[in-house]
Amino acid sequence: MKCLVTGGAGFVGSHVAQALLDGGHEVVVLDDLSTGHRAAVPQGARFVHVDLADAAATDAAVGAERWDAVLHFAALSLVGVSMREPFLYLRRNTMTALNLIEACTKHKVTKLVFSSTAALFGGDRPDPIASGDPIDPGSPYGESKYLIERTLVWADRIFGLQSACLRYFNAAGADPKGRLGEDHRPETHLIPLTIDAALGRRPGLKLFGSDYPTRDGTCVRDYIHVMDLADAHIRAIGELDSRSVTYNLGNGLGFTNMEVIQSVERVSGRRVPWEWAERRPGDPAVLVADSAGVRAETGWMPRYQQLDDIVETALRWREAHPHGYGEPA
Ligand SMILES: NC(=O)c1ccc[n+]([C@@H]2O[C@H](COP(=O)([O-])OP(=O)(O)OC[C@H]3O[C@@H](n4cnc5c(N)ncnc54)[C@H](O)[C@@H]3O)[C@@H](O)[C@H]2O)c1
Repeated sequence: MKCLVTGGAGFVGSHVAQALLDGGHEVVVLDDLSTGHRAAVPQGARFVHVDLADAAATDAAVGAERWDAVLHFAALSLVGVSMREPFLYLRRNTMTALNLIEACTKHKVTKLVFSSTAALFGGDRPDPIASGDPIDPGSPYGESKYLIERTLVWADRIFGLQSACLRYFNAAGADPKGRLGEDHRPETHLIPLTIDAALGRRPGLKLFGSDYPTRDGTCVRDYIHVMDLADAHIRAIGELDSRSVTYNLGNGLGFTNMEVIQSVERVSGRRVPWEWAERRPGDPAVLVADSAGVRAETGWMPRYQQLDDIVETALRWREAHPHGYGEPA
């Protein structure tokens, strides 16, 4: 396949681009490098520097070649910032996606895979969360992703652009071959933050809330290895010959925040400095995915189910790249 990967200089997009290249596919990465890194674009991929907010440049990039599939990762994705700057998130995420989707319909692209999110499901609810569960975004970030999912419904009905909306939970880990890793700036994800605390690269970790109704009182989250995510993206493209699909995507096993700390300590052999902090408003106790749909329909199975295996790949990359893809910002 020839694939256009927006956001392919970012964490998830770069790993999916790498998996596509490893599978013998041709990849063009489209990215504005606003949060991504040029060095994260895998070797063998071509790179075009485009901001999807620029409708004409987006149209030109999509129209330049014939794509077997477009994979759309580019977005603003900080939930907390979206609570302070809701219009920025609602405007930018939807507008950039609209520019891309409209260009895809104009240039007769028929398959698109979209990075959606567990943030579509706000509030406390019975776990695990299935793709048919009620949508109730807890943030403008989540809402912007839902608006894009709805846009894709109309792009299919009216123009036949078939799409896979993949709602991932917490992406984690790194390329097991050490070619790529996670370098968000600022970093907000628990596993890389815990690893940096263990490596002495940050003062210590705050654990928000000790009295959740979970096995050790800390929040439970579903961590899915980024290479398992990549596998799911490639399988999802295969489903798009005749229909659009929506899948929740997680490994289905929840791990508590405390278990993440214990795992990093076990795998690194180092102590993680941490302290208790107040609960953060809006943090649900448990967020675990029911991925029955993607498993049954595509045969997908996560290969990295043990937390230690996920942590190990992330730790190895961080140890080899203490400054991530470059000097500290
Ligand atoms: N990381 C997670 O745990 C997670 C969980 C659920 C959903 N997601 C979604 O997955 C996608 C990728 O997440 P990530 O963690 O890799 O984020 P990331 O910030 O590492 O990557 C996003 C990439 O998109 C690029 N980009 C942003 N705006 C752009 C624009 N206007 N034009 C062109 N490029 C642009 C950035 O430069 C970056 O390379 C996002 O859509 C995010 O909402 C991520």
